[in-house]
Amino acid sequence: MAQKAETAATGIIPSARTPERLEISNLSKGFRRSGGDLVGAVSNIDLTVSSGEIVVLLGPSGCGKSTLLRCIAGLEEPDDGRIEIDGRVAFDSSRDFMASPDKRNVSMMFQSYALWPHMTLRENVAYPLITRGTAKVAARKKADDYLELVGLAGLGQQYPGSISGGQQQRVALARTLVSDPSVVLFDEPLSNVDAKVRVQLRRELLRIHAELGFAAIYVTHDQDEAMGIGNRIAVMREGQIVQLAPPVSVYEYPSTRYSAEFVGAANMIDATLVSSTASDVTFTSALGEITAKPETVWAGHSSVPAPGTDVVLMVRPEYCGLAEGAPADRGTANVWEADIDGSLYAGSRTEFRCTAGGISLSAWVVGSPAGLQKATRGSFSIPPSAVRAIEIGAATND
Ligand SMILES: Nc1ncnc2c1ncn2[C@@H]1O[C@H](COP(=O)(O)OP(=O)(O)OP(=O)(O)O)[C@@H](O)[C@H]1O
Ligand SMILES: [Mg+2]
Repeated sequence: MAQKAETAATGIIPSARTPERLEISNLSKGFRRSGGDLVGAVSNIDLTVSSGEIVVLLGPSGCGKSTLLRCIAGLEEPDDGRIEIDGRVAFDSSRDFMASPDKRNVSMMFQSYALWPHMTLRENVAYPLITRGTAKVAARKKADDYLELVGLAGLGQQYPGSISGGQQQRVALARTLVSDPSVVLFDEPLSNVDAKVRVQLRRELLRIHAELGFAAIYVTHDQDEAMGIGNRIAVMREGQIVQLAPPVSVYEYPSTRYSAEFVGAANMIDATLVSSTASDVTFTSALGEITAKPETVWAGHSSVPAPGTDVVLMVRPEYCGLAEGAPADRGTANVWEADIDGSLYAGSRTEFRCTAGGISLSAWVVGSPAGLQKATRGSFSIPPSAVRAIEIGAATND
């Protein structure tokens, strides 16, 4: 709160709030490889980002994340579609219109710090303002305000070579934000700093974002970062957005097997629906009968399939239980005798690999249970409310 008042006093908060936002419709961009093959780097993307929102792009290397950012920034010319920034058209293929990068109120921050080594930190931050014609004195004053905002007050006269990597990334952030962009594009900005500094910078970035309220797209490979920073996560695959939802929805209710496996570890079980009532859902599988809850197993699906339909069920390993020895009562729902194939200690949990009914399963157990780590047989259990139907019908299985 103190920080907020301080920042307001520096005059950083833009006085006239515009309906800052980004609207992308049907955007496509392909590249021709030297052999002649066409790569659809970005395919038919629709995405709207509101002011004050951070959308995280999450997807494997080469799925088009940077290309999408570069199209928004105006560094790449899309083949098709439309981009509106602040309610103004920045690109429209149907009118053959493309605004140059400097005509878009967009800033981009990259993984590499890219600070000018021969300029002081203040000069580095002031640089985007100077190139836009701001008078030197005003630009330097504003640069100092932004250095303060990122926690580097008083270091304006230092040179990039004399500060740490984490501090350099703060300077890069100040330089990205100093021109009051309404849309900020972050391309893996923290992947070069160590894990501890990354967590701290992420927290600060969220604080600054809450103060300035720009619309942001944030690319990361780090799932924890995606979960912690995004208001929504866009899971990308081969140039397309396959799921766009808040982090909890993407994690708890992934819409496809691809999303489920990309945002975390997942047990996948092929099953067939036996019956679905208002209170219980029953499947058959290689494990035997699996019971689930209708409100969670069908979440995200518009209708309940007919009995006999094949489905893929997903259960996150941290929801699964593992106990020593065979189940006390073989008739208990969702408890199966399992071989314990191995375990991996991961600090906060131990990850057990098991086999039951010929299926490989994993259960994450809190801490380091010594008895289980020595055991070769155990009881593997799945709470009915943890079961999700990921794919319905054999045709969607991939
Ligand atoms: N200038 C280019 N010429 C040809 N192909 C390109 C060019 N830029 C990108 N591509 C291709 O477009 C696809 C998407 O690339 P992009 O850089 O957007 O991926 P990314 O999701 O950012 O990957 P990463 O996570 O590795 O940064 C890739 O197949 C890439 O090889
Ligand atoms: Mg990239």
